[in-house]
Amino acid sequence: MGTTIRKSVDIPPDAPFSAEQRSWISGFLAGLASDLGAGGGDRAPAASVKPLTILYGTQTGTAEMLAEDAGQVARSRGFTPRIAELNDIGMDDLATMENVIVVVSTYGEGEMPDSARIFWDSLSATTAPRLENLNYGILALGDTSYEFFCQAGKLLDTRLEQLGAHRMLERVDCDLDYEDAAATWIAQAIPDAGGAPAPETARKTGWGRKHPYIAGILENRVLSGAKSAKEIRHIAFDLGDSGITYDAGDALGVMPVNAPDLVDAWLVRLGAKADTAIPGQGLPLGPLLATRFEITTPSRDLIRMLEVRAGHEELSHVVNHRDKAVLEHFMWGRDTLDLLNLNPDLVLDPAELVSWLKPLQHRAYSISSSPKAHPGEVHLTVAAVRWMFEGRAHRGVCSTFLADQEPEGAQAGIFMIPNTSFRVPEDDAAPMLMIGPGTGLAPFRAFLEERRARGASGTNWLFFGDQHRASDFIYEDEIGAFSADGTLTRLDLAFSRDQTEKIYVQHRMIENGKDIFALLEDGGHFYVCGDATRMAKDVDAALHSIIETFGNMDADAAITYVNGLRKDKRYLRDVY
Ligand SMILES: Cc1cc2nc3c(=O)[nH]c(=O)nc-3n(C[C@H](O)[C@H](O)[C@H](O)COP(=O)(O)OP(=O)(O)OC[C@H]3O[C@@H](n4cnc5c(N)ncnc54)[C@H](O)[C@@H]3O)c2cc1C
Ligand SMILES: NC(=O)c1ccc[n+]([C@@H]2O[C@H](COP(=O)([O-])OP(=O)(O)OC[C@H]3O[C@@H](n4cnc5c(N)ncnc54)[C@H](OP(=O)(O)O)[C@@H]3O)[C@@H](O)[C@H]2O)c1
Ligand SMILES: Cc1cc2nc3c(=O)[nH]c(=O)nc-3n(C[C@H](O)[C@H](O)[C@H](O)COP(=O)(O)O)c2cc1C
Repeated sequence: MGTTIRKSVDIPPDAPFSAEQRSWISGFLAGLASDLGAGGGDRAPAASVKPLTILYGTQTGTAEMLAEDAGQVARSRGFTPRIAELNDIGMDDLATMENVIVVVSTYGEGEMPDSARIFWDSLSATTAPRLENLNYGILALGDTSYEFFCQAGKLLDTRLEQLGAHRMLERVDCDLDYEDAAATWIAQAIPDAGGAPAPETARKTGWGRKHPYIAGILENRVLSGAKSAKEIRHIAFDLGDSGITYDAGDALGVMPVNAPDLVDAWLVRLGAKADTAIPGQGLPLGPLLATRFEITTPSRDLIRMLEVRAGHEELSHVVNHRDKAVLEHFMWGRDTLDLLNLNPDLVLDPAELVSWLKPLQHRAYSISSSPKAHPGEVHLTVAAVRWMFEGRAHRGVCSTFLADQEPEGAQAGIFMIPNTSFRVPEDDAAPMLMIGPGTGLAPFRAFLEERRARGASGTNWLFFGDQHRASDFIYEDEIGAFSADGTLTRLDLAFSRDQTEKIYVQHRMIENGKDIFALLEDGGHFYVCGDATRMAKDVDAALHSIIETFGNMDADAAITYVNGLRKDKRYLRDVY
């Protein structure tokens, strides 16, 4: 059965379009309808349909997944969309495009994700072309707990407008629970030429953030030594009959439950019982606090709400001072309960307080196993976040939810977060260089298992480090075995606190700069995982410096060289 094409084109009255956008869409649809042979009958061949390009900028795969979803919607509506990473688009190419949808996340502190950096450098340059023929829409992904919420999407939106491009619908900025907002935006962004019902973009089958698989925990073992300042654990899940598959390089989403003693402390503080009914919520107060809301780290909005009520001079001072550093300094170590306790006389209605809380979110963990080495299992390498503040033990929600599980009978809600670009090289002969201090080692255990299972001939070189060799050399036995059987061809270690001066992975990189440059020239792939704020920046600087020194290049040429690696997907980062 062919799809009937309507001759007249209706835009729903509640669609978020300006008059100009309505006019563009009407024209777009009318053109599309005539292209398709309005009046009914089979869809015309895709080649006659107006072009549509869907571009994504992602760090951990969500924007790419949504771009694929948008592609699916577009195909079902008669388009033959081109889907591409932003970095793969040059300005000449962009200038020829007519209709573009961009899905982009934000990383660092309001920065572009790696796969959009080169594109942004060109777009923001004074040499960027005028884009008067371009119609665009932007779906921005972010997290409201960051100061620069959805900044990458905002920057792209502003710059495209400056260059003369036409915004065809308003940008939507999505928080971590992006699914519904993204699906609605995609359905609106891609005109329905044939009156076909909008297909579901959310994956109906399989497990996801809103429908996690309840997996058994097979193993929960401390990897760090007794004298370590850290508590890094190996956690293994049983994938059972879930049908979940994954590849080395993917991340796992874990849905935590808040610690029972913290929930009890909240109930005591609120003077309420666990079975207190909360209007409009399907659960009473105790289970609500345990499973539905973030009760550890307060959001900026919650801090502001509590400041108004608390009548606490110092809190009011730091909030109203409007200096981020001052507020961060005051908040360091404090959780929401500490804020509630600033004024013990403050009485809060539980229902009102609950209405101020943010939904409890999953946490992502880089998977540290290859399914080829551990069929039916998925492994994580988790640093338990624990600290003391004013005599009370404080914990990170998810890392300690996992760490404190007794393996016997324990379960957790999990789902896959595919990261299709963070993969071992397709070419088994290509050399691989991995920088993974601390928990950054996680995906590289998976990569080494993967390369061993594939019998890959390419060399594998690992830089690892942490505070002390005696207590922090996690997976030392396994790394020894990878070296012994030839999987790991080279290992460089940087234990930062085993001597008076700090030695970090980037210092080891500089010592081995000549060989690193040779590896890159030989088609090697360069991977980084772990701390985003300090380590990944310093490693990036070391990489540039090595390329300058051993490639005999100036700073600009080294930047171009690194951008080339990015474009070739040979400089990949999984940083957090
Ligand atoms: C793609 C990706 C991959 C990741 N992979 C891994 C991985 O392989 N292994 C891993 O362990 N983590 C990994 N993480 C981090 C992980 O997702 C969580 O952020 C981490 O486990 C902390 O979550 P939590 O719920 O335990 O802590 P939360 O409840 O989120 O609390 C964290 C907060 O606690 C506060 N805090 C932390 N330490 C202290 C302290 N010493 N003193 C005072 N306050 C403190 C800080 O405000 C911090 O924001 C990854 C993150 C991403 C995005
Ligand atoms: N969002 C969260 O709540 C959360 C939770 C867990 C972990 N994390 C982050 O995840 C990252 C990984 O944590 P981790 O415990 O596995 O390891 P880590 O804190 O990154 O420490 C690993 C090693 O890196 C060293 N290091 C410190 N600064 C560095 C720099 N600028 N360049 C290179 N190396 C540096 C450390 O040395 P020294 O310690 O001696 O300086 C240590 O030897 C950390 O950034 C941590 O903050 C975040
Ligand atoms: C290390 C890190 C930094 C982030 N920085 C920001 C930020 O500055 N602003 C923001 O809105 N979101 C920020 N986010 C949230 C991501 O944009 C959000 O999780 C998004 O859904 C990820 O999409 P992706 O998987 O396509 O990269 C950050 C996330 C991480 C892990």
